Amino acid sequence: MELESMPKFLEKKTILVTGATGFLAKAFLEKILRVQPDVRRLYLLIRASDLASATQRLHNEVIGKDLFRIVQEKWCANLDSFISEKVIAVPSNVYYENLGVKDCQLRKDMWTELDIILNSAATTRFDERTIDGVISAYGKGKLKCFLGHHETIFDIIPADMVVNCMIVAMVAYANQPYEIILHVGSSWRNPIKFSRFRNVIVRYFAENPLFSNNGKSIRVENVTVLSSMASFRAYMAIRYLMPLKVFQIANAVICQYYQDSIIDHKRKIKSVIRLAELYKPFVFFMGRFDDSNTEKLQMATSESGVDSHLFGFDPKCIDWEDYLMNTHIPGLIKYALKI
Ligand SMILES: NC(=O)c1ccc[n+]([C@@H]2O[C@H](COP(=O)([O-])OP(=O)(O)OC[C@H]3O[C@@H](n4cnc5c(N)ncnc54)[C@H](OP(=O)(O)O)[C@@H]3O)[C@@H](O)[C@H]2O)c1
Repeated sequence: MELESMPKFLEKKTILVTGATGFLAKAFLEKILRVQPDVRRLYLLIRASDLASATQRLHNEVIGKDLFRIVQEKWCANLDSFISEKVIAVPSNVYYENLGVKDCQLRKDMWTELDIILNSAATTRFDERTIDGVISAYGKGKLKCFLGHHETIFDIIPADMVVNCMIVAMVAYANQPYEIILHVGSSWRNPIKFSRFRNVIVRYFAENPLFSNNGKSIRVENVTVLSSMASFRAYMAIRYLMPLKVFQIANAVICQYYQDSIIDHKRKIKSVIRLAELYKPFVFFMGRFDDSNTEKLQMATSESGVDSHLFGFDPKCIDWEDYLMNTHIPGLIKYALKI
């Protein structure tokens, strides 16, 4: 392991990143450009039909984002020259041979220069991020009930810890002939249970309510938690679907006067049922993920004196209340939430 020389190891290295417009790859790229601007080159594979659209996506969806604010401020007027010196946008589609990179010379250059590959291209089907759909729905006052077990552990972890672990692993396992799997999570070392998670969310929105489009603060209530899918369906039927049926019949008698309101109710009910179906496999999952390899790497990292502020990924350091109240939810509201 060459951990002592972090981030020196990355100096003059060439890295290829697939899925460069994605959530994790962007966080990785930002970290590299911030902590090791002397990296030799970053080839960013971007799903695009030609160079012009790949370059446009690089600027609009990656470098231009607020995530890169520190890098933007550091390089200021020299940002464009810094980026064009270090970063090459490569139009690609990883479904195809040679990752869909059509330019033969570029392919040859990449294959010869490459030191590290980060494969982050994926078809993700999170309707909304990892647990954020539930938080948003609750804050917007759209979630009155949900299903879950108070003992269920949510295996969540801040993305910057995942990125730190990826970078440390690149250094630690460079040139190792064997494959190693590192699971970066919190369920073993610092588990957060559903009940605690729910209490923090409820407290956050009670103290910091969202505002609707008409400027009124949105009042949130405690969510009714149902501990099985059957009880959830029964609750939805009695509490919402049956009254809606009655409302529909009455509305037909008065010539559909409340049709808009009925459509709105239907949409809200559908959204809650959809969220419940989406999260069903997770909210009753009682397993935990083995992260012993990650723990070993983390211990080696601290023994080597690597700056834990810069490259830490020890889940035990997370104070969940503080993280959710002061970082995660405010970030979600600022960057991702649409009222
Ligand atoms: N985010 C998390 O919380 C999380 C948690 C655990 C594991 N992971 C894993 O980490 C990996 C990355 O996740 P993510 O959250 O960064 O995903 P993401 O935000 O959905 O990004 C996926 C990236 O892959 C690209 N892509 C998809 N199909 C492609 C293709 N055929 N050719 C080229 N590029 C293609 C997407 O390009 P477009 O922009 O063109 O769609 C996008 O840049 C996934 O394997 C995911 O399962 C993520």
